[in-house]
Amino acid sequence: MSDVIRFGVSLSKGLLTRFDSLIKEKGYPCRSEAIRDLIRENLIRRQWLIGEEVAGAITLVYDHQKRGLVDHLMDIQHDHHKVIISTQHIHLDHNNCLEVIVVKGKPREVEKLAESLKAMKNVIHSSLTMATTGKDLV
Ligand code: NI
Repeated sequence: MSDVIRFGVSLSKGLLTRFDSLIKEKGYPCRSEAIRDLIRENLIRRQWLIGEEVAGAITLVYDHQKRGLVDHLMDIQHDHHKVIISTQHIHLDHNNCLEVIVVKGKPREVEKLAESLKAMKNVIHSSLTMATTGKDLV
């Protein structure tokens, strides 16, 4: 750990008290780990903004018995096959399915895929988890 650098941060007592109470609530073992996470969150948000390669997951819930829906979902996924690493399909009950689409690639392409899926009629839930490839974030 020779490349670890320690630095001091100045902030008001009130702000530090609120920060300490927040990280205690979230279960952080120390301030350093909480600050590292805040820095990474900001860097990851920036990766999505400036178009660096990112990774993430799109979660869908839909009723597979709705006419034409599964075919449409497949068509859209095939249109974006370059950013899809894998998909997992879970049969939640007789009608409803949960699908997790793991993605990696340029943010615009991933967001376009997520938006196309979300906008589809009869998709009950759709969310995009904006994660990272993890590169240069240690
Ligand atoms: Ni299913």
